[in-house]
Amino acid sequence: MINKPKGTVDLTDKEARVWKYVEEVIDSVMEKYNYNYIRTPIFESTELFHRGIGDSTDIVTKETYDFKDRGERNITLRPEGTAGVVRSYIENKMYGTHSLPVKVYYNGTMYRYERPQKGRYRELSQYGVEVLGSNDPMIDAEVISLAYNINKMLGLTDTVVHINSLGDKQSRDNYRKALKDYFRPHLDDLCNDCKERFDKNPLRIIDCKIDNNKEYFKEAPKILDYLSKESKDYFTKVCEYLDLLEVKYEIDQKIVRGLDYYNHTVFELMTTNNNLAIGGGGRYDNLVDDLGGPFTPCVGYAVGLDRLVNEIISRDIDNIRDDIDAFLMYVNEDEKKYAIYLSNLLRMSGFVVETEYTGRSLKSQFKRADHFNSKYLILLNSDDLNDGLVTIKNNKTKEEEKIMIEYLIYYFDEHISDDNLPIDEKCSCYNHGKEDDENE
Ligand code: HAM
Repeated sequence: MINKPKGTVDLTDKEARVWKYVEEVIDSVMEKYNYNYIRTPIFESTELFHRGIGDSTDIVTKETYDFKDRGERNITLRPEGTAGVVRSYIENKMYGTHSLPVKVYYNGTMYRYERPQKGRYRELSQYGVEVLGSNDPMIDAEVISLAYNINKMLGLTDTVVHINSLGDKQSRDNYRKALKDYFRPHLDDLCNDCKERFDKNPLRIIDCKIDNNKEYFKEAPKILDYLSKESKDYFTKVCEYLDLLEVKYEIDQKIVRGLDYYNHTVFELMTTNNNLAIGGGGRYDNLVDDLGGPFTPCVGYAVGLDRLVNEIISRDIDNIRDDIDAFLMYVNEDEKKYAIYLSNLLRMSGFVVETEYTGRSLKSQFKRADHFNSKYLILLNSDDLNDGLVTIKNNKTKEEEKIMIEYLIYYFDEHISDDNLPIDEKCSCYNHGKEDDENE
């Protein structure tokens, strides 16, 4: 038997259905915020990630899937989506052809060679947004509230945004120096990763999961004390706008992020259930420039779909249907032809319909209809069909009635409607909104 590669998952059954539901909610919310869908390649030149994410980051040094293709090019499976979107923005000269800011979102698989465990995979999926071409704190707040609101609409009402500021370059340089001065006497005591970080990226010592609990970490310098006046003002504005947007957030000076491209606002989305971040992002004003485009301030985030879906399933809060509208039952070939014809008619009219494909007995078909929680059974019987009739049985009340075949669609229109609403009208938040309006 051939098994799936380590760190990958098969999405099936309930998980696959919740996944599709989550994607539908994301698509529908993105449309309302006017973010356009963007799709970039799953593999890119290795150099893009080295220059984009940072040569010294864990992602680039330890986690990328790199290979040479048959033309001897250095290729990397994308470990995240931002670098590819920025590459596309520059390559397609969107700064010249689009009205700024460009607001895009994506959804796809990423690849990181990490030690697999629950919520941490080697093939992972992210949905993410990037806004290119604005340095107004308003857009930082919009992007954060977008992530927060999607979580809320999916039922993760305990989401809290942990937010911090890394300030401008000068603020970060000052802070880096202060951190090195502070940790220098403790250098021997730091874990091996932090020893390396000391020179390459001292900010990451702050969020080290191994050393973090050590007593002297409590007194370590805090970034917000090192922000320039402009950086402080920027951060204050972001928080002010988040208040207006009613986002639950917490200032958390441990958030420094694992990718090198950030400045100013950085944030992660946490839920009370989970100590793994569901998503994270921030501002990256210099990446477009660093990758060869014109200076373009940007902000964005990505959410791990695997973690998001796991969280929804573990709480049983998905909003997806677990029933079907009708099951068409038959025994002989003439009846079967009606099953084929009518199932097509009903499906094309918007109803969720199942029928029999393997010649089971009627008794087994009843069982199968129950397996799918069918609301109605449509019993196709040759004698009735010759008279232009079908029997419809309500599978809950067990009441039966015979109706003319040509009234079948009207019958279902009348008896089944609410459950077939489009997804955004089904979404709990929209419904709550409507109910509130009605109550007022
Ligand atoms: P990131 O924090 O590296 O940011 O990843 C974002 C999210 O992807 C994480 O919060 C997590 O939910 C999910 N994730 C990351 N690694 C794994 C893994 N091995 N298994 C499962 N889920 C994982 C970025 O990727 C940035 N590009 C976000 C961004 C966009 N910043 C600005 N724009």
